[in-house]
Amino acid sequence: MAHGEKSWEKRLAGGADDLAIDFVESLSYDRRLYKYDIVGSIAHAEMLAAQNLITRSEFGEIKKGLLEIADQIGTGRFTFDKRQEDIHMAVEAALIAKIGEPGKKLHTGRSRNDQVATDIRLWMRDQIEIIQTYISQLQLALVRKAEKHTEDILPVYTHLQRAQPATLASYLLSFTEMLARDWSRLKDCRKRLNVCPLGSGAAAGSTLPLDREMSAKLLGFEDITYNSIDAVSDRDFCAEFIFCCSLISAHLSRLAEDWILFASSEFAFIRIDDAYCTSSSMMPQKRNPDLLELIRGKTGSVYGALIGMLTILKAQPSAYNRDLQEDKLHVFSASDVIESCLRMARAIVEHTAFQTKKIADGLDEGFLDATAMAEYLVGRGVPFREAHGIVGSLVALCEKEGKKRLADLTIEQMRAACEKIENEVYSVLNPAGVCKNYKTLGAAGPENARAQIRYWKEKIKEQ
Ligand code: ARG
Repeated sequence: MAHGEKSWEKRLAGGADDLAIDFVESLSYDRRLYKYDIVGSIAHAEMLAAQNLITRSEFGEIKKGLLEIADQIGTGRFTFDKRQEDIHMAVEAALIAKIGEPGKKLHTGRSRNDQVATDIRLWMRDQIEIIQTYISQLQLALVRKAEKHTEDILPVYTHLQRAQPATLASYLLSFTEMLARDWSRLKDCRKRLNVCPLGSGAAAGSTLPLDREMSAKLLGFEDITYNSIDAVSDRDFCAEFIFCCSLISAHLSRLAEDWILFASSEFAFIRIDDAYCTSSSMMPQKRNPDLLELIRGKTGSVYGALIGMLTILKAQPSAYNRDLQEDKLHVFSASDVIESCLRMARAIVEHTAFQTKKIADGLDEGFLDATAMAEYLVGRGVPFREAHGIVGSLVALCEKEGKKRLADLTIEQMRAACEKIENEVYSVLNPAGVCKNYKTLGAAGPENARAQIRYWKEKIKEQ
């Protein structure tokens, strides 16, 4: 491309410096917006035609040319030239080269500032749906796994110390809950971003009679933006989107952390299929959960993108500034990482077996039934604070006598601590019995787990 071919080169003397060309370009990464850029341009041109700013036949030529360019890019037959700076200029220049005069009218009443703000919104609308689909698939994988384990018990930890018994199904479904919030957060984000900035011009609008509502409608937006100065620089939705990705990443990192521990020989709660393990270059015995570690580790890059995005927005002068071009780097990066982590997490969930026998064999450790025993005493009229102390002293007694379980104490030993204790106490002193006895809604017993499985199976279909 020779100097003077870009319209702004009439304003700037001499060609741009090579270093400057490389520094300013975004084409290397914003080319992935090409479809949205072209769809946006077709809608804009159709509106220009409806407003008699171009003729119907010019619109026809523009549309045909743009569709050909889309096809060329899609099939890898398009030559990108970084001196075009970005996808918007690359497409427009190709259109002018292809169809001549009518192509020069496409940018009527438009700036790259409202154009790029429109393109990212269009891209993000679709991307949110893709991420939501991956969320649903992971949720479903967890529900299917849960279905197999409504009767299996696992210790739930608080402070990484054994706390209470829970059904394995309830444990798995805890992640389905987190992911449901992620799904609906993305839905909110999509709703807020679904407004059309096109027609805001560079910053203050246009003197031409553009029909902004028509462009918005053609592009499936719910509304238009109502302040052009804000509209060209609003990237709140980018920060929101990356925040949504950040929480997904936080949730996946929690699952990863649990399962990395569960895969250790100290826990041995799970066995991940070989296809989803790695080995060591030195230690021949190793089966490492590297994929889970990467899911956990990639959280760093997603959070980094959020801070990157928020920092761009801080103290941004009114209306458009080129800083905003960097928004896409962070948005694309967070989105790509989350997409791959969700897919990986689903595969791992599907290819991991819980070692239920091993887990069951260890349930006598950690006095998991202690809280239930205190609640048994509450049922016999003992104030909870007192019951807590009584059971605490019985646990201490067990430890002193080398007894593993509260149920190993004799009835006399128990009655010495509290005479309200009767023989039937032994029926509440086992983790499976405790789980069955959970009465509260949302508790981690088998009945609730089954109800939640039924709920999620319907819910995931609808969302
Ligand atoms: N590539 C730019 C971006 O992504 C497009 C807008 C450029 N506008 C401008 N006035 N230089 O933000």
